[in-house]
Amino acid sequence: MSHIRGRFQKAMAEKVARYTSSLPFDWRLYHHDIAGSIAHVRMLARQGIINQTDSVVIVQGLEAIEREIARGEFKFKAELEDIHMAIEARLMEKIGEVGGKLHTARSRNDQIALDLRLYIREAIAQTIDGIRELQRALVGLAEANMNVVMPGYTHLQPAQPVLLAHHLLAYFEMLQRDVDRFDGCRKRADVMPLGSGALAGVAYDVDREFLAHELGFSQVSQNSLDAVSDRDFILEYEAAASIGMMHLSRLAEEVILWSSAEFDFIELDDAYATGSSIMPQKKNPDVAELVRGKTGRVYGHLTAFLTTMKALPLAYNRDLQEDKEGLFDTVDTLLASLEVLAGLISTLKINAERAAEAMGRGYILATDLADYLVKKGETFRSAHEIAGKLVSYAVKKGKALAELSFAEYSSFSPLFGQDVYSITVESSLAARDIIGGTAPKRVAQAVAAAKKILGQGN
Ligand code: ARG
Repeated sequence: MSHIRGRFQKAMAEKVARYTSSLPFDWRLYHHDIAGSIAHVRMLARQGIINQTDSVVIVQGLEAIEREIARGEFKFKAELEDIHMAIEARLMEKIGEVGGKLHTARSRNDQIALDLRLYIREAIAQTIDGIRELQRALVGLAEANMNVVMPGYTHLQPAQPVLLAHHLLAYFEMLQRDVDRFDGCRKRADVMPLGSGALAGVAYDVDREFLAHELGFSQVSQNSLDAVSDRDFILEYEAAASIGMMHLSRLAEEVILWSSAEFDFIELDDAYATGSSIMPQKKNPDVAELVRGKTGRVYGHLTAFLTTMKALPLAYNRDLQEDKEGLFDTVDTLLASLEVLAGLISTLKINAERAAEAMGRGYILATDLADYLVKKGETFRSAHEIAGKLVSYAVKKGKALAELSFAEYSSFSPLFGQDVYSITVESSLAARDIIGGTAPKRVAQAVAAAKKILGQGN
């Protein structure tokens, strides 16, 4: 760009311009860039660093440019290095030399730090909205299926009966921690870096508190070197997004498993399923598979940018420009995944019968059988042993636990009474009547608590 080539005798090689330009991706920051510039210009005028008339002309010029970009009329010139240069160059075109006052007491180094913080603040708000939407879908599905019982699994082996709603609410909890993590990220991104200049702070009497207030930040940065080279907030977003995608991918995996012919616990709505180009019978969970698959690129962006940041000396280095594509893709991927999963979950059909059948012949109640003996005076370890032998015996006989005769029970322990037959899936669930347990009463309370968090409480 001509006005920053003062020191140079010739133009930048075209391939260098292409290699170094961030314009193909940082144009997305135009709104934040212009908002930051407008606040900056107002502050300059308030402080008497530029005059009022000039500031009005510059602000109007910037507002006009924002409209041009929003309408798709703006010509992004490949030779301009980044969105900051593109906007400044257009400003000069529109309002002439006075546009050259915009960059007083500012550097692109504190400018990009600001833009990114403004961007991430918005991204975090959208992310939390997206998480809330998925939580609503999960709670809605739980509430519509409060009586559905399924095997809970450990090692993917049927372990103990649980309510489907309890299982779904586990994801509510995971997502709740995600909200909390993004909120923490928001707090640390809530710092206004303008005034840091290139690295040492600016040599003008700028009002940083005014800027913070104008731009809705609660704090100003306390060290100029740190402020222009800090990208922790991006790493934090990417880390929170990675954990969030890991959660989504676990949910997606269960959707995939449960919709298989082998499990058959759920049926995907046609609108959220895909077909096979060759096998007419197939209804595929591609949406869930892609959520699972896209988790990889989000982890990748975190790893890539951590690696970029590693061992960077203070203060600004051009390496930092590598922060953007990964961040944008992380935000886009997470938002899209949340949105599509929320739709998928809220339209799922539950096959309650199949889920009940999957509990098999009652062996899933073996823990309850052991607990029964403990209550009759057996130690847990030997109760465990006896119940294990009983199950193995029943399996050999091809009998369900409930089909064993009283004599058969008694041959394993004198402690068995007729009341052993009252051990059922229902009694098993009801017995887990503690905070966080799967007793229907507790799960109903958990649903109510979740709804309250979602602002749906009464
Ligand atoms: N495009 C740059 C980036 O994204 C903006 C800051 C450029 N600063 C500089 N001194 N070249 O990081």
